Amino acid sequence: MFSKKIKKIIKKKNKKKIICLTAYSKNIAEILDRHCDIVLVGDSLGSVLYNYDTTRNVSLKTMIEHSKSVKKGIKKSLMVVDMPYRTYKNTKEALKNAKYIISQTGCDAVKLEGGKKIIKIIKHLVKNKVQVMGHVGLLPQFEKGKFRFKGKTEIEKNKIFNDAKLLASSGVFSIVLECTEKSLSKKITSSVKVPTIGIGASIDCDGQVLVTDDLLGLNSTNYRFVKKYASLAKIIDRAAINFKQDVIKKLFPKKKNSY
Ligand code: KIV
Repeated sequence: MFSKKIKKIIKKKNKKKIICLTAYSKNIAEILDRHCDIVLVGDSLGSVLYNYDTTRNVSLKTMIEHSKSVKKGIKKSLMVVDMPYRTYKNTKEALKNAKYIISQTGCDAVKLEGGKKIIKIIKHLVKNKVQVMGHVGLLPQFEKGKFRFKGKTEIEKNKIFNDAKLLASSGVFSIVLECTEKSLSKKITSSVKVPTIGIGASIDCDGQVLVTDDLLGLNSTNYRFVKKYASLAKIIDRAAINFKQDVIKKLFPKKKNSY
């Protein structure tokens, strides 16, 4: 049922951590591909690149165009593409759109947000040989108001735990846990056979994912769960200043830069 590439990732559970990062274009994907098990074309691109208030505004066309670019940078990683909001409203639409994403972009799998509510859809995709990644906890496509961590109450914890168990038994190959409370992340991870990939969901997950722009320090977000590994905004700023100065002082272009 699972592809060879996916089986390799599942095998890492309880042995090696799974590395996942987001990419929205070829150049970044090419660099990340060398270090990641999974490259995710997340619909987070809606807020990161397009400044949308919500990922609900991301269209299928936009996801496909960015995914085509990402695919050009990928040699070895598993490429997963987010199915945008309202593209998996029912089994028929979901299968049509998932197959369209896969055929247009050459990605390996798709990711959908939700648990019990979309189980029929997940089962239908899996039955039709679509490789699916699940996503529970904080679901950006369905959040109203301010984002907050999930698993604050026992009721909420039980719901998310049951959703994750249902997803795992419905054939997803992995589950993203977004902003789930630490003990809940641990319980889910030890209770399901497929790997969990955490974002703001503690060290106990089988793998970790971050939005690459956050990790690179390209924006001013300061979520508690993000660690900035670089300050690219500052580097770009400095490069632009240097270029500007060179142009003003007529130091660029030089003879060697001219024809
Ligand atoms: O859209 C996205 O980038 C995601 C990750 C944050 C998991 O879903």
